[in-house]
Amino acid sequence: MTFARLTDLKAKRQPIAMVTAYDYPSAQIAEAAGVDMVLVGDSAAMTVLGYDSTVPVTVDEMLMLTAAARRGLRTPLLVADLPFGSYEVSDVQAVATAQRFVKEAGADAVKIERGGTSVERARAIVAAGIPVMGHVGLTPQTAATIGGYRAQGRTAEEAVAVFRSARALRSAGCFALVFEAIPSPATDAMMPLLDIPVIGIGAGPATDGQVLVFHDLLGIFDGRAARFVKRYAELREPMISAVAAYAEDVRTHRYPAPEHEYSMAVAESQRLEA
Ligand code: KIV
Ligand code: NA
Repeated sequence: MTFARLTDLKAKRQPIAMVTAYDYPSAQIAEAAGVDMVLVGDSAAMTVLGYDSTVPVTVDEMLMLTAAARRGLRTPLLVADLPFGSYEVSDVQAVATAQRFVKEAGADAVKIERGGTSVERARAIVAAGIPVMGHVGLTPQTAATIGGYRAQGRTAEEAVAVFRSARALRSAGCFALVFEAIPSPATDAMMPLLDIPVIGIGAGPATDGQVLVFHDLLGIFDGRAARFVKRYAELREPMISAVAAYAEDVRTHRYPAPEHEYSMAVAESQRLEA
């Protein structure tokens, strides 16, 4: 996958499939499944690190997860979320953080949230030679300032504000955008006016692609799922059953069985006994 091929997919109206991954095995699964793009999302804060929101996750934590995902990927584009507090202060801060994700973790691109000051940050990172994905609509890093985890663009005024951010990010040089939790009619109105790929999550069917959180789509995450989540598997229960079966086997001496044991030559075990 290349940035040019992404644009090509949009032009040909071939939907782009993106999924999050946060480590080596989840990246390998994304690779084997043949998705187009992988996002090391700061949703990792909640799905793999157990924080209550995406706000507390640190650059070092995200770098470790991104580097692990990189080692499991060859084909899809790897986009890494810059965490809250790691890019907003200045262009210098934003470029320095983005460079760490490319140099230390092997990201192909970074993603930042919101319009506003993030537009200039995006422009600075792109100018430094690093592709940037924008993210508008519901922006979890700043949920407190947009009325919480709620859809954005339900009123005409709000939809126009989302569009202004989207267009500004495109003008700043973003190669693609995420639309999160935006009413479909608002998305429908914006799509003809945007010439870069838009990847939706809870933004209806009109976007150029979709993204879902790995743990949500596989049914691993034990928490309240958003309206837009579709579960393609329910892996949490079989995972619990498997670990419980193992614990039961240990406690009842059914594991390990003879086939799990290492052997020793009879002569050697006789020498040992002697
Ligand atoms: O962190 C994340 O997983 C995201 C996607 C939901 C777009 O930003
Ligand atoms: Na994110």
